[in-house]
Amino acid sequence: MSAKILDGKAISEQVLQETRQGVAEFRTKHGFAPGLAFVRVGEDPASRVYVGAKAKMCERLGILGQTFVLPAAASEAQALDLVASLNAQKNVHGILVQSPLPDGLREDAVFETISPEKDVDGFHPMNLGKLVVGDPTGFVACTPAGVHQILLRSGIPLAGRRVVILGRSRIVGKPLALLLSAKGKEADATVTLAHSRTSDLPAVAREGDIVIAAIGKNRFVTADMVREGATVVDVGITRVPDTAKKAGYRIEGDVDFATVSHKAGAITPVPGGVGPMTIAMLMANTLKAAKLQADPR
Ligand SMILES: NC(=O)c1ccc[n+]([C@@H]2O[C@H](COP(=O)([O-])OP(=O)(O)OC[C@H]3O[C@@H](n4cnc5c(N)ncnc54)[C@H](OP(=O)(O)O)[C@@H]3O)[C@@H](O)[C@H]2O)c1
Repeated sequence: MSAKILDGKAISEQVLQETRQGVAEFRTKHGFAPGLAFVRVGEDPASRVYVGAKAKMCERLGILGQTFVLPAAASEAQALDLVASLNAQKNVHGILVQSPLPDGLREDAVFETISPEKDVDGFHPMNLGKLVVGDPTGFVACTPAGVHQILLRSGIPLAGRRVVILGRSRIVGKPLALLLSAKGKEADATVTLAHSRTSDLPAVAREGDIVIAAIGKNRFVTADMVREGATVVDVGITRVPDTAKKAGYRIEGDVDFATVSHKAGAITPVPGGVGPMTIAMLMANTLKAAKLQADPR
């Protein structure tokens, strides 16, 4: 039996549609648009593409997207000064610093300079702390938030179920573990956070009613690691050289889709799964930031 495909692209369109509606209402109420500032340092081609796509999405939704570019040789002080000036700008409600930054710039230092109220990427320790304590005014990192929405909007039950997350990064695995194990009707899962030092990873993964792969190794999760009928969410993105593709590469996830899709009950594809959700949640976070700043509680 083939697994049900969890169509992240279609679910992201729902989120984007709701956000567009919310942005229109915000503009009517306040007379100005939610604003999102992008900071790019250097000319890394992938970063240019990512920031370009996000800026275009802002335009589509009626968000004021502005891109600020520093030269690759910029000092950390210059990057921090730019972020500080954006923190002070009233028409900027969200700030996104595109990673990776060039060598010599400490990402943590730059991310932590972003005012927590404008940290729509959810990387600031204050927002991670708010996730820990369940404070709804915080921002959840976009990829974990997107995975959560895929599960919720696909009607995959979470309460009381075993979730195994492969990968414990600060931007994906850890916040996702907090999100899905939170107390409340949209979570209440029992979460195992596995990583490179986990012993007998296949056996641990097989315990999952839901398995979420976020490790960055293409086709790592094979059918023997997945319980029959499990839900499998693939966060991984690896570029694999492919001369048959115009871009010269294809994208593969962390899951061996060809085999796992015959054993799983439901599965996200790559591309078209978690990827589109990340940008949709960024837009939703920006609207949330604008609302919180315009109408502080
Ligand atoms: N779809 C999206 O929008 C989106 C967004 C973000 C990331 N991603 C993708 O998601 C993947 C993970 O990203 P990330 O930033 O979280 O990666 P990361 O920071 O490199 O973390 C990778 C995690 O996987 C674990 N790991 C590595 N090899 C392993 C193995 N053989 N067995 C078990 N665990 C292993 C690492 O364990 P240790 O902690 O022990 O080293 C680490 O916790 C990447 O492919 C990335 O491109 C996609």
